[in-house]
Order: sequence, then C-alpha cells, then structure tokens
Amino acid sequence: MLDRVELVVEGRLLDGREARIFLGGGVVLAVRGPAAPVGGARVYRAPPGTVVGPAFVDIHVHLRGLELSFKEDERSGTAAAAAGGVAAVVDMPNTRPPLRDPGSLGLKAESLARLSLVDYAVWAGIPRDPGHAPAMAGHPLVLGFKAYPEDYDSPGLAAAAAEASRLGKALIVHPEDPGLIGECSLGRRGSECRPPEAEVEAVHRIASLAPPGLRVHVTHATTPATLEAAASYGFTSDVTPHHLTFTSRDEARGCLFKVNPPLRPPEVVEGLVKAVSTGLADAVASDHAPHTPGEKSGAPEECPPGIPGLEYAARVLLTLASRGVLSLASAWRLYSARPALAAGLRGYGCLAPGCRAAVAVVDPSREGVIGRTTRDYSKAGPGAWEGYRYRGEPVALILGGSVVMEDGEVHEDAAAREARPATALTLGRQAEA
Ligand code: NCD
Ligand code: ZN
Ligand code: ZN
Repeated sequence: MLDRVELVVEGRLLDGREARIFLGGGVVLAVRGPAAPVGGARVYRAPPGTVVGPAFVDIHVHLRGLELSFKEDERSGTAAAAAGGVAAVVDMPNTRPPLRDPGSLGLKAESLARLSLVDYAVWAGIPRDPGHAPAMAGHPLVLGFKAYPEDYDSPGLAAAAAEASRLGKALIVHPEDPGLIGECSLGRRGSECRPPEAEVEAVHRIASLAPPGLRVHVTHATTPATLEAAASYGFTSDVTPHHLTFTSRDEARGCLFKVNPPLRPPEVVEGLVKAVSTGLADAVASDHAPHTPGEKSGAPEECPPGIPGLEYAARVLLTLASRGVLSLASAWRLYSARPALAAGLRGYGCLAPGCRAAVAVVDPSREGVIGRTTRDYSKAGPGAWEGYRYRGEPVALILGGSVVMEDGEVHEDAAAREARPATALTLGRQAEA
C-alpha cells in the first residue's frame, strides 16, 4: 500500500483516537494507529487541539454561474465551500438558463469542471418537456431532480419522478404549497404571507404524487411539523443554519434576512433547534443563496430572497455543539455522512478505506466573528451572518492528495487540480456491482 500513498493525515479522530489516515489515488487507503510507518509519504499534522473527520458535504447550494455569474460563479462559490471545510457540493438548477433541459445541464457541467474548487454534483430542474427526463436523469452529475413550488403541477414532474425512481436517484423538494403562499406586501412579513402550514401541506402533496420507491428529500424545513410530516412518509429532510439562528424579528433588519421559506417566530426556531438536537432532522444544508450586496440592500418587498452561508455553515453548527445543543460528533454527521446518504452521494462523509480522500480539520474551541475573522469568498459577502460570533472553525481541508485550505485561506491551484465530480465513486461502485 505504501507505494500508492500520496499524503498521510495525522491527528485526533472524533472518537478521541490518534490516527494516521493514508490517502492515495483520490481515496482513503487505510486508517491506522499513530505509530504506523509512513514510508516516504508526505505527512500533514493536524494542529494541537484539533479534531479530524470526513470533510463536510453541502447538498443544497446555489453556485449560480452561467448568466448569473455576477451574483456568484462556480469558482467564488466553491472557494467559500473550501473555506468552510466543505469538500462536496450539490448545485441547484434555478440558474439562467435554468437546468431544465440536457443542453443547459451540459453548460453547467462544463462550468463546474472548469471552475470548481471542490467536488460537485447537480440537482436537475424539472424539464418543461417531459421527453427530456430520461437523458437528464441519466446525466452522470445528476443526483436527482429539484421540485420548486411552481413545479408541483407540471407534467414534467411526473416524468422526472418516474425516471429518478427507475435509476435510484432522488427528488429534492422545496416545501411550500403554491396555493398557500402569497405575495409579501409592505407590513406583511414573511412568516405571515408564507405560513408554516404551506410547508406541511407541500409534503402531503408531494407524497400523493411520488411513485412508490422514489427517494424524496425535503430541504430547508423550518418547523418541527414539516420534519415530522417528512418522516411520516419515510422522506429525509434538512434544515439550514439560518433557520436555526435567526427569527422573524430579524426581518426588520432588512433584505439581508429575506429568504424562502421565511424566518420563523422565536418559539418555532426554538422548536426547530430542539428537533435537531433530538435527531428529527436528517441533515443540515446551507441553501447558500447569493445575491449581490446591491440587490440585497434594496427594499424588502422587491429584493430577491436568499442568504449566503457556505463558508459559515460548519461554524454555526460547531457553535451549536459548543453550546451543548448537540454533540460534536452529531453536529459533524449532520453536515457530512447524513446529507451524503440522503442525496445518494456514496463515498462522502466517511473515512473508511475506499471513501473519497476528503478530510476536514476542525478546531472546536477557536472563536471568531463572521465578516472579521473570515475570508468571505462569496461574491455575496457575509450578508446576514456579518457579526455572528462563532466557536468552532474548520482550520484545514484536505482533498485528494492536497491540503486545499489552511486557516481559511484557499489554495486555488491545488484545489482546482483535485476537484472532480462527486459522483465518480457512486458510478464506480455501480459499475463494479
Ligand atoms: C433561493 C435562491 O435565491 O435561489 N432563495 C431562497 O430564498 N432560498 C431559492 C430557493 O432555495 O428556494
Ligand atoms: Zn428553496
Ligand atoms: Zn435554495
């Protein structure tokens, strides 16, 4: 084995054991004790007081790119990911052009291959032409389809769901029933015009049209009732760092806090945090939704919804862990193994032999303030998170055979060399089977 080793990561694992992790050929080759011989391989020693574990996985990000590159592109967005300890992202299809046909998917795949600094996969949009569903479902970067509220009634959804089910791929759902959400006019804040009941109703509705056997994932759930409804059908779910942190009271601070689904009243947020601590949510995802600082300084009635968070999601989760809301190991799993499993991304969120060589190094007691001690690689800047005090920080990210981020600084050349489709292992395993 030693002849194939490219890098050895030495540090303390989540279970407290000291270990040497042998990486080579883009995967974990072995995890051995601290005295295991390393031969002539390069060694990365994690700093004292840190913990090493599988790199983080974010299954809901908007890297934008293509015609929306002025908001964010696959380079700036994945730099934010790497700075946040995230080694794999799954990009959303509401781009311009939207990823609702094979041609646009091809453009997106080309941009990701050229620009991404971390591993990547894609959720396809629901095709306008149902005839496109098979080719899109079969695209090697596609983990499944994303259903937005405007898609619930479309003929493309049935075709997409059937194809996803046939190929073992997933349907990821933005849960807000279009019949129950209105325009948020002046004086009518988000949670009033887009009520929590719209989320629960959406889950029931998706359940009524999903073919048996289809894996369904409910993303950015904001209330315990939504999580319960999802679980009642065997669907997986995720919650965002912003819905666990900010409340509807923050909406008074302006457009930076406008997001869909909206921020909820403090008692609902408390319930959501509790639901996460008791294991009701399957995963955390950032819903990194960058818009330009100019767009986000507009009037709340007209400005675009969305909160950026790729660089900060791990910090927020680690902060919750530092407050005792959940253990460090559970917080880590919620943003690595669990989302990888929900999205069908094999070989991520794990450190066993054969898993992707993707390791995050975390200092659980390092403190800082977003916007001051962070690099803010996203074109959107720190946005709503500016001034947030965190405890717990990803201090290094190892991808393939390279250290691609150290102390928040992303080594772009090395990262660009190492980044690859996050579906490579999934497809490899299927090919073997
Ligand atoms: C997202 C965006 O900006 O693309 N906005 C948001 O408020 N979450 C869209 C979405 O995830 O629904
Ligand atoms: Zn959404
Ligand atoms: Zn989103």
